[in-house]
Amino acid sequence: MPPKDSIANTFLVSFVLCVVCSLLVSSAAVVLKPLQQKNKELDQRRNVLAAAGLTVDRSGEEVAAADMSGTEVEEVFGTRVTRRLLDIETGEYVADGEVDAQFDPKKAAKTPELNTPVTGEFKIGPSSREKQTWVYLIKDGENVEQFVVPIYGMGLWSTLYGFVAVDKDLATIRGLTYYEHGETPGLGGEVENPLWKSKWVGKKIYDEAVTVADANNDDIKTGVAKGAPTAELAAYQVDGISGATITCNGVTAMLKYWFSDQGFAPYFKKLASEQGAG
Ligand SMILES: Cc1cc2nc3c(=O)[nH]c(=O)nc-3n(C[C@H](O)[C@H](O)[C@H](O)COP(=O)(O)O)c2cc1C
Repeated sequence: MPPKDSIANTFLVSFVLCVVCSLLVSSAAVVLKPLQQKNKELDQRRNVLAAAGLTVDRSGEEVAAADMSGTEVEEVFGTRVTRRLLDIETGEYVADGEVDAQFDPKKAAKTPELNTPVTGEFKIGPSSREKQTWVYLIKDGENVEQFVVPIYGMGLWSTLYGFVAVDKDLATIRGLTYYEHGETPGLGGEVENPLWKSKWVGKKIYDEAVTVADANNDDIKTGVAKGAPTAELAAYQVDGISGATITCNGVTAMLKYWFSDQGFAPYFKKLASEQGAG
């Protein structure tokens, strides 16, 4: 046996240590993956509720989204929210029998047969988007009160992922949240600031002179102003975040894209015509 402090022994000990540590790390990654996935889903649900202004605890008291326990999120989500898979281009729901409950829109956006190029006048950063995505119907009893749709697009450093809640009138924003981004805390990261987020509630999406059914891309007026919005645009826009103009421009661009005929306009028009018919 070589002496304890020999070079060979040092190498042997380091090698064994490396193997043991890498085994520990990789098995932790494998074991924890389902838990991470579950937490990710819970976080998305929490954000859907936050966008819809439904962050309440057991007693029905309004709380910050982060203060809702996992069980509270599941409870409110289970009673108030229905998730549907939407074909974005047609604005139709995918038939129940054809829905894969594990469908991942983020992966689909990068898969050639499941995505479509981002075209038209609005640029959001990524060059393709998923053809289908999950949308969330917020119900009060039998009545659908809001529709929560996913949005994403580039800021300065990162793609921001979030949700926007739209009232059943299909013209008014009820809330907006971001659950994933890599913008600078205190600058672009202020998109998470509750005060700034609260400014979105009640903003109109399309020019108030037109109905949703008639609205086209030029009528999309919502977005982030540079500084405070002018009196003329105050009904549509929120204040800019100082030192974060690029992130704010990204927010405006993604809203314009996702509310356009490339995004959810066909869905909203369909819903509006169904409401008109009903
Ligand atoms: C370290 C660092 C981080 C920054 N992070 C952001 C950011 O997250 N979002 C953003 O729009 N601008 C960020 N900026 C500022 C931009 O470079 C740019 O100056 C700013 O968007 C202009 O905004 P203003 O017109 O409101 O001053 C950062 C700048 C520095 C130096």
